[in-house]
Amino acid sequence: MLNRDKTVAIIGQGYVGLPLAMAAVDSGWRVIGIENSRSKFELIASGISPVEDVASTKVQIDLASGAYRVSNNVADVAEASIVVICVPTPLDADRAPDLAILEQAVRDISPHLSDGTLVINESTSYPGTVRDFISPLIESLKSSPSVSIDLAVAPERVNPGDKVWAQKNTPRLVGGLNEMSTKRAVDFYSSICDEVVQVSAPEIAETAKLLENTFRLVNIALVNQLAQLCADQNINVHEVIDAASTKPYGFMKFTPSVGVGGHCIPVDPMYLSWWAANNGGRASIIEHSDEINLGMPIYVSRRVRELLPTGVGRVMILGVAYKPGVKDVRETPVTSLRDDLLAHGCKVGWLDPLVADWEGSAPVDPSWECDVIVIATAQPGLPVEALSKRGIPILDCTGTFKELANVVRL
Ligand SMILES: NC(=O)c1ccc[n+]([C@@H]2O[C@H](COP(=O)([O-])OP(=O)(O)OC[C@H]3O[C@@H](n4cnc5c(N)ncnc54)[C@H](O)[C@@H]3O)[C@@H](O)[C@H]2O)c1
Repeated sequence: MLNRDKTVAIIGQGYVGLPLAMAAVDSGWRVIGIENSRSKFELIASGISPVEDVASTKVQIDLASGAYRVSNNVADVAEASIVVICVPTPLDADRAPDLAILEQAVRDISPHLSDGTLVINESTSYPGTVRDFISPLIESLKSSPSVSIDLAVAPERVNPGDKVWAQKNTPRLVGGLNEMSTKRAVDFYSSICDEVVQVSAPEIAETAKLLENTFRLVNIALVNQLAQLCADQNINVHEVIDAASTKPYGFMKFTPSVGVGGHCIPVDPMYLSWWAANNGGRASIIEHSDEINLGMPIYVSRRVRELLPTGVGRVMILGVAYKPGVKDVRETPVTSLRDDLLAHGCKVGWLDPLVADWEGSAPVDPSWECDVIVIATAQPGLPVEALSKRGIPILDCTGTFKELANVVRL
């Protein structure tokens, strides 16, 4: 007989859900990973991990031991005492929160939840999502009024590609709708993580998660704006940042870049500004930071074209993923850079050792003839050293390659 008390179902087996599933297995849980994308389900079922931070061998071992099962049948949540939701929470066309996927996941699971199940939301969203959005939906869709459901939030803090901070050693914020929900969620994460931080309400954890990512967005915007101001006045912004970084307190180093990307930094702060506006306030610092970061690829495009004698030519972009070490191209600012270069008549080729297909286009060969190279993401394995010997200008937006010939930093 299966032990429901030691079974957890995780909805969504992506960048957040799969590492959590593997960590839960390591902590003695039986895990059912529910995945509704047919291709991802089949990939995982065949023992292949779709995310960089989880080795396929790990998936294979956990599948073989029976401690982990991937399923595309949401009714399997009935076997679990805990259900954790790890599905995307993107923006809509107006850059406002789009909770359609989260809503669908809650609609899918609700009729199948067993009495006494603890549902935890890990997906990032605005304050009040668990209390005002998820809870009423579950209550209206659960199989019977006598079914009692506990609810908590534990925002994911995963940093894909990070070799130091992972599920186990990253402190976890937990807030439940009531004492029992909080206690059960704290117990669950205490079995997986070294440190669990209990907060007084789900809204504290939800808002803290948005503060963390907004902190990054705003500081990235600050340094991106400073980079443009310094370049105009011939001041080396990297030397400025290194100098400021010698202050032992009250300063944290951020470096200029082609912009922000991924599913978190460009997205989550918009949940906070939408929530502020919805409540009659205004998070103007977020709006302005977003504007600066969205403008960076356009600024970089201008800097690239200034390196071409006629302002147009063949440009090779190195690194298209939104950050080094991952193949994820979601929200990558490199898309805007490419589009702006194309709009100004340039021909663009790209190369990224981790990305085989980017929005339907294939990478070029490193020998591709071009007039200028722009390093957008410092992806491991890029042939930068060999390419620098060609003698053509290279604009490095990552600040990584200062020792090489012909390299100009942003
Ligand atoms: N990726 C990150 O670095 C990161 C970090 C912290 C927090 N988050 C947050 O975590 C959440 C999940 O992000 P992610 O990066 O893991 O997304 P992801 O796209 O990598 O994975 C989500 C998975 O959920 C699946 N899915 C969607 N609806 C489903 C449903 N109804 N039933 C079963 N499976 C379903 C999708 O097919 C996908 O495989 C988001 O809210 C995100 O903001 C992400």
